[in-house]
Parts: sequence; C-alpha cells; structure tokens
Amino acid sequence: MHIRITMFPLNRPRRLRTNNTIRHLVSETQITAYDFLVPLFIVEGKGIKEEITSMPNYYRYSLDMLEDELNELYDLGLKSVLLFVKVPEVLKDNAGTEALNPEGLMQRAIKYIKNKYPDMLVMTDVALDPYSMYGHDGIIDNGRVINDTTANFLAQMSLSHAQAGADVVAPSDMMDGRVLLIRETLEKHGFTNTGIMSYSAKYASAFYGPFRTALDSAPVTMNAIPKDKKTYQMDSANRLEAIRETQMDVNEGADIVMVKPGMAYLDIVRDIKNEFDLPIAVYQVSGEYAMIKAAAQKGWLNHDEVMLESIIAFKRAGANIIASYFAKDVIKLKLNL
Ligand code: PBG
Repeated sequence: MHIRITMFPLNRPRRLRTNNTIRHLVSETQITAYDFLVPLFIVEGKGIKEEITSMPNYYRYSLDMLEDELNELYDLGLKSVLLFVKVPEVLKDNAGTEALNPEGLMQRAIKYIKNKYPDMLVMTDVALDPYSMYGHDGIIDNGRVINDTTANFLAQMSLSHAQAGADVVAPSDMMDGRVLLIRETLEKHGFTNTGIMSYSAKYASAFYGPFRTALDSAPVTMNAIPKDKKTYQMDSANRLEAIRETQMDVNEGADIVMVKPGMAYLDIVRDIKNEFDLPIAVYQVSGEYAMIKAAAQKGWLNHDEVMLESIIAFKRAGANIIASYFAKDVIKLKLNL
C-alpha cells in the first residue's frame, strides 16, 4: 500500500457525490442479473404455487406450475437456478434412499427445466436433509452423523443429478472429503463438464430457520438424534477454519466455493476472496430474507433500499455469485418493472 496524503481543502470527497450522474460514474460496484443464482423450491403434486409462511412472496411450485416462473426469470436475464425439493414424508428414511431415484422429484425437475430451457444453468442442492427422516444432512449411526458413508452417498446423488442433466452440483452438507469423492465419481462416469459448487464455509446458523420450514427439513427432536447440525456445519466463531475448509474443497476439485450465510459473514467472503482465485458465491439465506421482509412489513425499514444495500454489500465484499431470494425483486426494481 502506498502512502497517501489526503488533505482538505485540496481534497473534497463530496465533489464526487454531488448528484446521481457523478455518483454512478464513480461507483465501484454494479449489480446485474448475471450476479444472481435463484433458489427454487419444488414440491410434488399438481397446480401448486404456495407461499412459504416465513418467506413472504416466495413460493413452492409443483413442476406443472414452474413454467410461468421460469419464463419470468428468463426474461429478466436470471438464467441460473439452484434447485431444492420438498420430499413427501413417506419417502424419507435414514439413508436418503429416495435421493438416488432416477425418477425422483429432483431428477424430474432437472429434466423438465433443461428440456424447456436448455441454456438455463441448473444447479442442484446435494445433501440428505430433505430426504432424511431425521432432518440431517447425513446418515445417522449410533447417534452420530457418519462422515464417510454419507460422503460416498452424496457422490452417488451427484452422479444421479448429472445423469438427469444438472450443470452444476452443489453439496451443502459439510461432510469432510465429499468434494473429492463427487469429482472422482463424475470423472469416472464421463461427466467431465459437470461443475461442483461447494458450500465450503457453511456455518451452523439459526438464519436457516425459514428454509427448514419451507422444506419441512428441520432436525427432529428425538433421543439419540443430534438436535442441531453443529458436528458438521462450522462454528460461527471461526475465521481461519473457513480458509482451511475452502482450501480443502479447492484441492478436491471444486469449481466454485461458497460462504453461507451472507450478511453476518462478509468478513469471511473477503478473506476467501483475498486468498483464492476461483469464483466465490455467497448465500443470502432465508432468515436474512425474512428479517428484511418482516421489518419492511412493519414499516420499520425501506424494503427496496435495504434489499439493494444488502446485495451491494455481498459484491463489494468480493462475491461473484449471489444466491438470493431477492434476485427477481432486485432486477425488477432496476428495470423499473
Ligand atoms: C441443507 C441446506 C440448508 C440451506 C441450504 N441447503 C439448510 C441447512 O443447512 O439446515 C439453507 C438455505 C437458507 O436458509 O436459505 N443442506
């Protein structure tokens, strides 16, 4: 860093803030549709478009109701989606068996979207929780989420998504070593172009609350079942550990790494940006969305301004890709729609 002398009145920073035009001219950060990854919640059934109670103006769709939403996203230039499925209770078990069903909801959703919009980028969530009767991201044995068996299963799950046509698989589970197993499995089966976006620094966070309600995937309260995800997701107190976790995923073959949640972890986004040279994603999670919506509904915050400020913050912190439930709102606002 060179030494700078900034002295009044030779320097008057306010000159560059005089009006909108000059503020835009010197703005360091711009938001476009290319920055976003749009999470989509998909349910079984027909004719379903239901609002998620804890996520106002965000919906779960059955496949036949997805068309309008996809058309709208496409027209707004939002061409990257991240898929999550809500699995019927009867199909859940400890091993997540349904996740490998070639005709499962996720696999059908991938095919549906790729068939209708071949140039939409389809990313898929890879973790057991929507399929687990216990609401955990892995298989439980003797009261513990077991790592290696789960990681092997996730590799098979990723393969199944790739076979259905997914462009990128996104393991969100935080098992050790899973990226390598996924990469090797994809290579072995000829899926050399399937990307891996790894949730590398994913913290055990209460901000995921509304999402778990949306998918009905919260850990169950039951004897001998861990009540939270703290044995695999990271401790929010840790910063250096995020670099170590990310380094491992990069070494194991991740194409994109992710920090999650977003707003409370911007320091981590910047650390990862400074340390690595691959694309960095950040996830503005359900609780962050819910907080802004709730305060805006009460008239305590200006919805649009706070939304934009939060998105700008991610990009300024160093994120290249922003997964956010606000994606559509932001782009519509920009286009005055
Ligand atoms: C599950 C998963 C979660 C989210 C994305 N994938 C929840 C969790 O880890 O419990 C959270 C997303 C959000 O809160 O918006 N593996």
